[in-house]
Amino acid sequence: MTYRPTATAAWKTLQTQAELASSERITDFFSQNPKRSSDMSVQCGELHLDFSKNLVSDQTWQALLELVEQSPLQEHRAAMFSGENINTTEDRAVLHAALRAEIGDQTVAAAAAESDQRVSLVKQQLNQVALVSEKIRSGSWVGSTGKAITDVINIGIGGSDLGPKLACSALQEFAHPTINLHFISNVDGAEILSTLKKLNPETTLVALASKTFTTQETLLNAKTTRNWFEQELGLKDAQTSSHFVGLTASRENALAYGIPNEQILEFAEWVGGRYSLWSSIGLSIAISIGFDKFEEMLAGAREMDLHFQTAPADKNMPVILALLGIWYNNFLGAQSNAVIPYCERLLLLPSYLQQLDMESNGKSTTLDGQQVNYDTGAILWGQTGTNGQHAFFQLLHQGTRLAPVDFIALAKDGMSNEEHHRVLLGNMLAQASALMCGQEAPAGEQHRYYPGNKPSNTLLLRELSAKNFGALVALYEHKVFVQGSIWDINSFDQWGVELGKKMANQLLADNDGQTADLDPSTKALSAYIESCQ
Ligand code: F6P
Repeated sequence: MTYRPTATAAWKTLQTQAELASSERITDFFSQNPKRSSDMSVQCGELHLDFSKNLVSDQTWQALLELVEQSPLQEHRAAMFSGENINTTEDRAVLHAALRAEIGDQTVAAAAAESDQRVSLVKQQLNQVALVSEKIRSGSWVGSTGKAITDVINIGIGGSDLGPKLACSALQEFAHPTINLHFISNVDGAEILSTLKKLNPETTLVALASKTFTTQETLLNAKTTRNWFEQELGLKDAQTSSHFVGLTASRENALAYGIPNEQILEFAEWVGGRYSLWSSIGLSIAISIGFDKFEEMLAGAREMDLHFQTAPADKNMPVILALLGIWYNNFLGAQSNAVIPYCERLLLLPSYLQQLDMESNGKSTTLDGQQVNYDTGAILWGQTGTNGQHAFFQLLHQGTRLAPVDFIALAKDGMSNEEHHRVLLGNMLAQASALMCGQEAPAGEQHRYYPGNKPSNTLLLRELSAKNFGALVALYEHKVFVQGSIWDINSFDQWGVELGKKMANQLLADNDGQTADLDPSTKALSAYIESCQ
C-alpha cells in the first residue's frame, strides 16, 4: 500500500494531541516528571542534546515515535547506506556517508563487498587531497614564478562553497598560521575584484570547486581570475598552470576547461553538492587545518552515522530533532526553525543549514509523483547569540509567531577565556529558560508580559574540535534525511533551482531585456536598468 504520512494512525493521534497542546504548558511537564530533563537528553560522542524544553507531552512523544515506526524510515535509511539509487529523479545513489566510512562499516551484508570497494575508492581520492594540501601547507607547491602559496581562493557556490567556508571558519583555532583562505561564490563582480586587489598573483592558488564544472557564477569568477593572472603576471591560460586546481565530479569537464589532469581532485557522482564538504571539495579545509584534522572531522561525522544507524529512535539524535521539527511544522503551525549558535565561529552555520535543509526538503512532490497535501521543509534561519538577542529575540519572546529554536553552544571554548565564556553561556541558558518560563506582567503593564511556553532544543558540544564539528554537520544531514523520509519526498534533487537559471540565461541572451516571453514587470525593470547605464 502506498505510504502517506497523513494516512498513518500516528498522524491522526498527533492531530488530537495538537488540539490538547494549545492548553498545555512546558513547565507543567517538568512538575509532572521531575526526571524530564534527563529523560529527554541524549548523548552522541561529545554532543549532548537536551530536548526537554519542548511543548511535547509524554503522549505526544509516544505518538511521534510511532510515526517513525509507521513510516518507511528504516528501509530508506538502509537503502541510503547500502547505495541504492534513492535519488530517483536523478537516478543516483546518495552516499556522502561513504566519504567518512571505514572498511567493514556497511550494515547491509548483501552490499558489503561493494561498500568496501567504495570506501577504498574514497580513500584513494582523499589521499590526493592529503598530498595536495600537504604540499601547499609545506610550501613545496609553487606558483609560476617559483614562489610558495600564501593565499588560496576557493571559487565555488552552494555546496561547493558553504561547507568549506563554514568549516574553515568554525575550525579557525587550528588554521595554518600563514596561508589565508578566501571564498568567492557570488557572481557579483565587486566580491572577486576586491579580493583580487588584495592578493599577489605569484603566491595565489585558485581551487575551482564545482561538482559539474558548468556553473555560471563559478565559471565567470574563474574567468575574471584568469584575466587577473594574465594582466598581472603575463600568464596566459592560467587554468593550465600550477595556480589552479579543479575539485569536481566531472574530470572530463575540468580537463576540457584546461585544468591539468594531475591537478584535478575528483569525487564521485553519488556525492550530492550540499553534502560534498567531506570530499575533495573540502580541499580548502585540509589546507587550512591540515589533513589529520580533516580526518578527525570525518571521524566525527562517522560517529554520528553509526549512531544514526544503530540508536533506537527515542535515543537517536537526528531522529529526535526531525520529529520535533515535524511536530511544530505539521501540527502546531510553525513555519520556521531558528538555529542560534552561541559561538561566533559558527556564524555561517545557519546559512550552511539553509542550503542543506531547504534545498533538500523544500519539495511538494511525493516519491511517487503526487502533490503533497501537508507541509514539508520549514524555513530555516538564524544568527549567532548574543547578537540575535539584540535584534530579533524581541519577536521570539513577545511576537505572535511560533518559532522553535535550536540553541547550539560549546561547553568549553579553547579560543575564549573563562569570563567571556561564562557570560556567553549564561546568556544562552537564560534565553532558553525565559522563552519557556515567561513572566506575568505587573498590573497595568501588559507590554511587560512574557507568555513563555516557547520551545527550544539545546545542543552542547563539549568543545569545537574538528571531530565534534563533523558530528554536528552530520547530525543535521541525517535530521533532514529523516524528515524527507517521513514526508515521503526526495531530499536529494533540486529541480526548483533550474527554472530561474534557464530564465537568467534567456534574459542574458537578450541585450535590452525585451524578449517576448518575459513578463511585463521584468521587461520594465530591464528597460529601467538599461536607461541607467
Ligand atoms: O544551485 C543548485 C546547485 O546545483 C547546488 O545544489 C550546488 O551545490 C550548486 O548548484 C553548485 O553546483 P556545482 O558544484 O556543480 O558548481
